[in-house]
Amino acid sequence: MKYSWFFILKIVVVMLSVSVFAQGAVLTDAEKFYGTELKASKKVQHPPFEWGDCTVCHTDAKGEGALIMDPPELCAMCHEAKDTKAFIHGPVAAGACTACHNPHESDNAKLLTASSINELCVSCHQAKDEFMRNTANIHSPVKDQCINCHDPHTEDHQYQLKADGKKDLCVMCHVDKEVWTSTVTDKHGALDRPRKCLECHDAHGSEVPMNLIKNTSKELCLSCHSESLTRDEDGSKILNIGKHLENNPDWHGPILWGDCAACHNPHGSNNLRMLNKPFPRTFYDKFEEDNYICFQCHEKEKIMDANTTTATNFRNGSNNMHFVHVNKEKGRSCRACHDFHGTKEYPHHLRAKTKFGKINFPIRFIETENGGSCAPACHARRHYDRATPKVNLK
Ligand code: HEC
Ligand code: HEC
Ligand code: HEC
Ligand code: HEC
Ligand code: HEC
Ligand code: HEC
Ligand code: HEC
Ligand code: HEC
Ligand code: HEC
Ligand code: HEC
Ligand code: HEC
Repeated sequence: MKYSWFFILKIVVVMLSVSVFAQGAVLTDAEKFYGTELKASKKVQHPPFEWGDCTVCHTDAKGEGALIMDPPELCAMCHEAKDTKAFIHGPVAAGACTACHNPHESDNAKLLTASSINELCVSCHQAKDEFMRNTANIHSPVKDQCINCHDPHTEDHQYQLKADGKKDLCVMCHVDKEVWTSTVTDKHGALDRPRKCLECHDAHGSEVPMNLIKNTSKELCLSCHSESLTRDEDGSKILNIGKHLENNPDWHGPILWGDCAACHNPHGSNNLRMLNKPFPRTFYDKFEEDNYICFQCHEKEKIMDANTTTATNFRNGSNNMHFVHVNKEKGRSCRACHDFHGTKEYPHHLRAKTKFGKINFPIRFIETENGGSCAPACHARRHYDRATPKVNLK
């Protein structure tokens, strides 16, 4: 804090008067005006007021006359200017220091005119007041105090934020997200969109957990994924999930609940397609239990037990057809038969067509009372039946 020569002079004058008149019952300016009892009635005293020399700021000792100059110049006699950076808060720019600070004394820290920072802020920002009262999920630093992110006076970033509010500010506290988003192998292009973190989150809060700007992660994802986006790394096209779901109304459980984040990490991941857990990259893959995100929700016995009468309905008698197809050195990944988002033609999220290399062949599934059959290009029609096992020709 810088003090001008004027201030230093004033202090010298005040000190002198205190030492000269200490012996006698000579009243200070303040005592003359307020009476000896009233002085220091509030918890926090502004030092120049406490010293009792009213003429530091007023043209007369009673403070009835004009100020020697108006804020902010008055305050800048002793304090650093508060409007020095690129973005200046409205009332500061207007010189209304006393809208927030009592120049004399106050019961609140920093001589504030309200009992908490947030009350001070929302006393003018009424829309935020309503938002804070009526929004189910308020971001915890916002509940704490607005100045965790905003400077009350002036800053180099829009909205007087302490750092760029679209991302830099967020990762000041969420350091893990900075590390994660910059080191994962499958990065999410959403973070390169202009509003970065704010493409998906509201900085202050929202009706739903995680401060999402849409009601569910699904709605959020589909706000971008209802067109065919382009993959950054190789320019290839990404499935238009919005259209896919529209055309395939039998949605997989988590999508029915609106939760795409049950399987995908919106901040990117080290797995295929930003999945939360691994999933084989290719049609064929050596079966390994840990390589299937599916077992997060589905029992692994479906695939692990060679013989079963309970773990799956995809069996010929007790011969587990899931085991036969998937659980081997050159196992077929689930994508050979299932679609993970939505299907239409067949039950059990069986896909209409399977992509094998460049071919896209139909699986021609027929369901029966106790089993079913299919006739993809891999083999002639084969049947399974849980009650009376079928014998299929090789
Ligand atoms: C640090 C500067 C400063 C000092 C020191 C100071 N005042 Fe003030 N005073 C102000 C400002 C600024 C205002 C105008 C407040 C506003 O804008 O609401 C003010 C307003 C007043 C008012 C008008 C009514 C009110 O309270 O708003 C009175 C009376 C007053 N001061 C008395 C005094 C007395 C008496 C002293 C000495 C004990 C004193 N002031 C010391 C800055 C100061
Ligand atoms: C004559 C000098 C002087 C003037 C003029 C002055 N101040 Fe101060 N102010 C001080 C001193 C000295 C302190 C104590 C500094 C410290 O504690 O670091 C202080 C402290 C403050 C504080 C911090 C209180 C705290 O609890 O930390 C605020 C806020 C403040 N002043 C606001 C103002 C405003 C607003 C004005 C203009 C209306 C103003 N000051 C004018 C000298 C002055
Ligand atoms: C919108 C309300 C608001 C306005 C207007 C405002 N201040 Fe503040 N000021 C605050 C808050 C809130 C703090 C407390 C910051 C903290 O605790 O970190 C503060 C802190 C201060 C402090 C002590 C800490 C510091 O930053 O040096 C001073 C001095 C101060 N203000 C001076 C001023 C002056 C001079 C003006 C007018 C140019 C002014 N303020 C206008 C809200 C305001
Ligand atoms: C005395 C009234 C008042 C108080 C108290 C106040 N503000 Fe403001 N604030 C304003 C005004 C006036 C503007 C300028 C509005 C505009 O330009 O549309 C503003 C602008 C802002 C802006 C920029 C808004 C925009 O759209 O550009 C932010 C952010 C802000 N205030 C945050 C705060 C915070 C945080 C606090 C509490 C520390 C606070 N305000 C306290 C009056 C106030
Ligand atoms: C976690 C950091 C953070 C906290 C804490 C915070 N804000 Fe903000 N605020 C932001 C960001 C980021 C933006 C810019 C939003 C944007 O670009 O859409 C913003 C924008 C604003 C704006 C201008 C745009 C708008 O939404 O009207 C106002 C006013 C505002 N904040 C007031 C407040 C108030 C009042 C509080 C305390 C109740 C507060 N903020 C607490 C981060 C924060
Ligand atoms: C000043 C520190 C701070 C800043 C800046 C900050 N946050 Fe937070 N954030 C927190 C804290 C503390 C929590 C609560 C953590 C907890 O409960 O485990 C939190 C929680 C969250 C949550 C989880 C909310 C929930 O419902 O559980 C999200 C999402 C979030 N922050 C996003 C952001 C974004 C986006 C930004 C930038 C606009 C941001 N944060 C800036 C401190 C911060
Ligand atoms: C594409 C949308 C999207 C973007 C962009 C995004 N998030 Fe999230 N974020 C989410 C979703 C959805 C969740 C909830 C995840 C869940 O439910 O498991 C979340 C959760 C969070 C959480 C709380 C849970 C956790 O993972 O710690 C934090 C903190 C968070 N995000 C911070 C950030 C930050 C910081 C950024 C910018 C670097 C960011 N987010 C960018 C969608 C996004
Ligand atoms: C703000 C727009 C936006 C939102 C919201 C969004 N995405 Fe994306 N997403 C993109 C862009 C752009 C790409 C293409 C660039 C890239 O990441 O390769 C992409 C790519 C993807 C990819 C393909 C990654 C790859 O390696 O091929 C997946 C999977 C994905 N997003 C899932 C989601 C999920 C799940 C959500 C919701 C939690 C979501 N996205 C929300 C913009 C968005
Ligand atoms: C049950 C887990 C699961 C859920 C829930 C889920 N996905 Fe996926 N998603 C996957 C798997 C597995 C892949 C990889 C498919 C493949 O490579 O064959 C994938 C791939 C993708 C791709 C890349 C498509 C391409 O062209 O390669 C996008 C984009 C995507 N999902 C978005 C979403 C969106 C948006 C939602 C919510 C509507 C969602 N996912 C819900 C498991 C899921
Ligand atoms: C060769 C094709 C094929 C492959 C590969 C395949 N499935 Fe299936 N799956 C089926 C068929 C057919 C059904 C329907 C069984 C019935 O009800 O008649 C089914 C049914 C299911 C069911 C419903 C419950 C049950 O077991 O009957 C789940 C869950 C399932 N599969 C998960 C998976 C997972 C996870 C993978 C990969 C680890 C996978 N499937 C691989 C063909 C396959
Ligand atoms: C987050 C939990 C979750 C994950 C992860 C998950 N599923 Fe599911 N899955 C469900 C729920 C819930 C259902 C029941 C609702 C339905 O039929 O979609 C279901 C149903 C199914 C069915 C149809 C069952 C039937 O009899 O109709 C198949 C097939 C299936 N999942 C395959 C998979 C595959 C393959 C994976 C791995 C890529 C996977 N699931 C990952 C939750 C999950």
